[in-house]
Amino acid sequence: MSRLIVISNRVAAPTTSHSGAQGGLAVALSSALQEAGGIWFGWSGEVTEEFTGQLSFQRGEGYTTATVDLEEHDVEEYYDGYANRTLWPLFHYRIDLAEYERSFAGGYQRVNERLAETARPLIEPEDRIWIQDYHMFPLGEELRKRGCRNRMGFFLHIPWPPPRLLTTLPEARELLETLFAYDLVGFHTEEWLRSFEEGAVNILGATSDGETLSLNGRTVRMIASPIGIDAEDFTALAASPRARLSFRQMRDSAVGRDMIVGVDRLDYSKGLEERFLGYERFLQEHPEERKEVFLLQIAPPSRAAVETYQKIRTALDGLSGRINGAYADIDWVPLRYVNQGYPRDVLAGIYRAARIGLVTPLRDGLNLVAKEYVAAQDPEDPGVLILSRFAGAAEQLTEAVLVNPYSAEEISDAIALALKMPREERVARWQALNENIQREDVFWWLRRFTSALDTVEAMVD
Ligand code: G6P
Repeated sequence: MSRLIVISNRVAAPTTSHSGAQGGLAVALSSALQEAGGIWFGWSGEVTEEFTGQLSFQRGEGYTTATVDLEEHDVEEYYDGYANRTLWPLFHYRIDLAEYERSFAGGYQRVNERLAETARPLIEPEDRIWIQDYHMFPLGEELRKRGCRNRMGFFLHIPWPPPRLLTTLPEARELLETLFAYDLVGFHTEEWLRSFEEGAVNILGATSDGETLSLNGRTVRMIASPIGIDAEDFTALAASPRARLSFRQMRDSAVGRDMIVGVDRLDYSKGLEERFLGYERFLQEHPEERKEVFLLQIAPPSRAAVETYQKIRTALDGLSGRINGAYADIDWVPLRYVNQGYPRDVLAGIYRAARIGLVTPLRDGLNLVAKEYVAAQDPEDPGVLILSRFAGAAEQLTEAVLVNPYSAEEISDAIALALKMPREERVARWQALNENIQREDVFWWLRRFTSALDTVEAMVD
């Protein structure tokens, strides 16, 4: 099997252990690379005065990481700018928050060229290249310009917006065109795939046969394949000593009350304000349940240099204060709102101690927290997953209690339903969910994508 070269903005060190506080995607990619072997290339997360293109290597179990520092100006225009002030809000259907600045688009292109130039010497003719996510749409095209004729795939981990939203982006055409440099492009759901296809057909005039798109003699194949977690590993993690300890700590501090848990990066796409309002509604409508439950919301801050993230943080500070101010008593706080991240094994114990997992993003490419919550449950007495219909994971996790995250009433009703749900129903739903999560795990995702990449017709120019 030929080597895999994975390229993404964030790279997890190969030595990452379960005690690290890592995002779901980084953990999933490192599990996938450990199986396939190869190189993982991307930004080191470090900032230097001037871009040098100097690579740092780290060798570990199964794969090597190669990272490069970026200069401050690059980070402002590429990461904080185009990636997170332009594309992220637009692709999560928030054109009201998207900022369209030529300098961001220029910086994004420049960084992609720099990354292509830096990665090029690492690539051998037989390697398969797999580029990840919205930070790097043009990277494939830049590698092609530098003579890479390798099989090359791209995977988008966030939603793809409908064409009517995409056309608000001044560079919509260029962005769509860059995807024709790849042999295969992947999305988590059929919905995102069809939005992309529609955009390419409507905006560029590409032709589609449902599985492939063609434009000016180039053909790209599309695949919908939802990412999974390393389910076996996560289930084992939930039984580890640190997870057992955090489970006991949570149960002790709950003093017999039911815990509802949410774990999300502090991001407006996660629907945290709407979730708090839904919970507030539940407290209003169910006075008998007050003091019987509490919501633990873990929300580590993210992308703090971007103003919209500062605003959502302030809004949530206000809202959590209001809810606690209105309902707390000397012996009960309805909402524990925590702005820090926790190691994965500690989280596994917290998930297991929670009667309800509340995962209500307004839009989400997939959402791995939903899967981790399920994998951590006690099979004899599992909790209930409440999941947004607008998370990509809802296409697979149909036995969750599905809600419209914009509706405080639906969130309130779902909490009430989940708290009353008899054990047999909880077990039946959990078994169906867990079966899916164990079967369609991260390795299943990896094999589906790489085998599709292996069978596409290799590029001829
Ligand atoms: C999402 C994106 C990832 C990103 C992660 C964390 O899952 O799809 O590409 O790495 O969020 O965001 P950050 O900006 O901290 O890398």
